[in-house]
Amino acid sequence: MAYRILEKEEIAPSVHRMVVDAPDVAKAAKAGQFIILRINELGERIPLTIADFEKEKGTVTVIFQEMGKTTKQLAKLSAGESLEDFVGPLGTPSDIRKLGTIILVGGGIGVAPLYPQAISYTEAGNRVISVIGARNKDLLILEDEMRKASSELYIATDDGSKGHHGFVTDIMKKILDSGEKVVRVVIIGPPIMMKVGAGVASPYDVEILVSLNSIMVDGTGMCGGCRVTVGGKTRFTCVDGPEFDARKVDFIELMNKLAMYRGEEIIAAEKYEEECRCGLH
Ligand code: FAD
Ligand code: FES
Ligand code: MG
Repeated sequence: MAYRILEKEEIAPSVHRMVVDAPDVAKAAKAGQFIILRINELGERIPLTIADFEKEKGTVTVIFQEMGKTTKQLAKLSAGESLEDFVGPLGTPSDIRKLGTIILVGGGIGVAPLYPQAISYTEAGNRVISVIGARNKDLLILEDEMRKASSELYIATDDGSKGHHGFVTDIMKKILDSGEKVVRVVIIGPPIMMKVGAGVASPYDVEILVSLNSIMVDGTGMCGGCRVTVGGKTRFTCVDGPEFDARKVDFIELMNKLAMYRGEEIIAAEKYEEECRCGLH
């Protein structure tokens, strides 16, 4: 079965938003879950978070950053074209209920998975303080959407071109220091940002959750590719996660595993770009 692409736009340099006709996925989707797609029969499977969904229309939105071969190939597709597979929703949905004040911290493409969470936490009656950031203002995504979905929104950029000049975690610390009772912090972004953020928030009396992006193949608990260590125990990110207690995650192991296939990934991307230059794609 093919899944039709209904909309496709570049929302920041090399960051794309794609709306896909996938009624079965849309019907069952909840914040915190993801899909695994395959562009064609020969393509590899890649996981992407469900950034938005509309049950009535049967549509699912993903937001992805061009990283290597598959995401570069995905970026070339247009509305009207189709994907071979679009499997989901996968993973355990975020545990969203009325808790009180929540801080949502997102870096780079990590703001995409935070967006449905901001909507759901707000709908559940929480006060949602969102802190989003990027390297510079052009790379910042979903600012208007996050502002609408949150009670308060703060922005940080590494180069100071918008909002606070520095890291999202600086703002998170200021809020935690302000005396406001915060029940939970959710941090989503590059592994190093989640590791640093978890370290900053750890001394405070607050629950800290991170969403892990370990390497996935089947996404259903069968292959073991997504193994992570949490609290000294082996967990499968695809079925036990992707969200885990940040204080217990072995981030160093995760970062080493993510870099494990770097050589092959570089070769695949270079070969694909060469084929593009030769007009093969
Ligand atoms: P490659 O050159 O193959 O890889 C670049 C880097 O991506 C690798 O070094 C590795 O860190 C990671 N990666 C490669 N293959 C996989 C794989 N099979 N599974 C997981 N990571 C991989 N990215 C987004 O842009 N938007 C999202 O919403 C998003 N959600 C994700 C949700 C989950 C649960 C997971 C596990 C990952 C998510 N990612 C998301 C990351 C995305 O899957 C990778 O960027 C993508 O697989 C890279 O593929 P590539 O061939 O373009 O790059
Ligand atoms: Fe295969 Fe999780 S991706 S077990
Ligand atoms: Mg790849």
